[in-house]
Amino acid sequence: MRIGILTSGGDSPGMNAAIRAVVRTCVYHKIEVYGIRRGYQGMIEGDIFKMETTDVSNIIQRGGTILKTARSKEFMTEEGMQKAYDALQLHGIEGLILIGGDGTFRGAVHFFERFTVPAVGLPGTIDKDLSGTDFTIGYDTAVNTAVQAIDKIRDTAEAHDRLFVVEVMGRDAGYIALNSGIACGAEDILIPEQVTNMDDVLERIDHDEKRKKTVHIIVTAEGDDFGGSKEITQTIKDRFPDKDVRMCVLGHIQRGGSPTYADRVLASRLGYAAVEALLAGNTQVMAGIMNDKVVYTPFANVIKEEAAISDDMLEMIRVLSV
Ligand code: F6P
Repeated sequence: MRIGILTSGGDSPGMNAAIRAVVRTCVYHKIEVYGIRRGYQGMIEGDIFKMETTDVSNIIQRGGTILKTARSKEFMTEEGMQKAYDALQLHGIEGLILIGGDGTFRGAVHFFERFTVPAVGLPGTIDKDLSGTDFTIGYDTAVNTAVQAIDKIRDTAEAHDRLFVVEVMGRDAGYIALNSGIACGAEDILIPEQVTNMDDVLERIDHDEKRKKTVHIIVTAEGDDFGGSKEITQTIKDRFPDKDVRMCVLGHIQRGGSPTYADRVLASRLGYAAVEALLAGNTQVMAGIMNDKVVYTPFANVIKEEAAISDDMLEMIRVLSV
């Protein structure tokens, strides 16, 4: 058997560890494995090469993806998908391992509605916005990166008696904001899963002002319904013109860096599990881990459900920031 492997969409720390696990499991089973560069775009262009076990040496600790990645608009067209399928045929690829997030699985659903190629997916995204897994590869590293950055911001905020609005990534999911905010003791956390009431936010700042609590950190998800850090910062400045307010968008630093042990282990477990599933004929599913067990979820269900953040968690944030 000959299989292809690709990483697609936004890169996430741990993708390399996943590639390593897939390649090594294939080598163990004497399956040929071909790397497809730049995700679906590379598939369209036939940018495909044979991988050996040495290609994945010394990468488990590296951020980014040795296969490179892309967001391919062309793959969403009929012609693009046909070209991609033709390239797979040309290279004799009989199975696929897809590592990516929401966009990758949306692309997979469209592609496999038209073409039959056995495939197994791995959740690779910092956003943790997929169903069928408790964690996604890269999420833990991204949250830790955000925590380190926000801790540093708190140092300078404390020194200057400033209010900071810190924007973290997550697309339209609030997990990075929620958990980095809790871990850093943020005074407020704004996430898309909960409607932001700006009057409440302003009232809490006012309350802190009155009791001479000078440092105030607001962590906002980029997808928050109020509109992001710029709008929030301006609204606060308008209401408290004498307050020293700053904003910081953490941006792509959250996507890079060496993966944490948790992401390396998750990626290794899922990479191994994905190849085993493909060999067993359990295909068109994403391998995930729920309650410490490997589970497989059909591609369409991975992207279907809205992720929910529990009310208990939201209430806890309120209590702990008193
Ligand atoms: O999906 C991962 C992610 O980093 C999101 O959190 C963010 O909204 C988006 O990708 C940024 O994409 P790009 O790197 O293409 O600007």
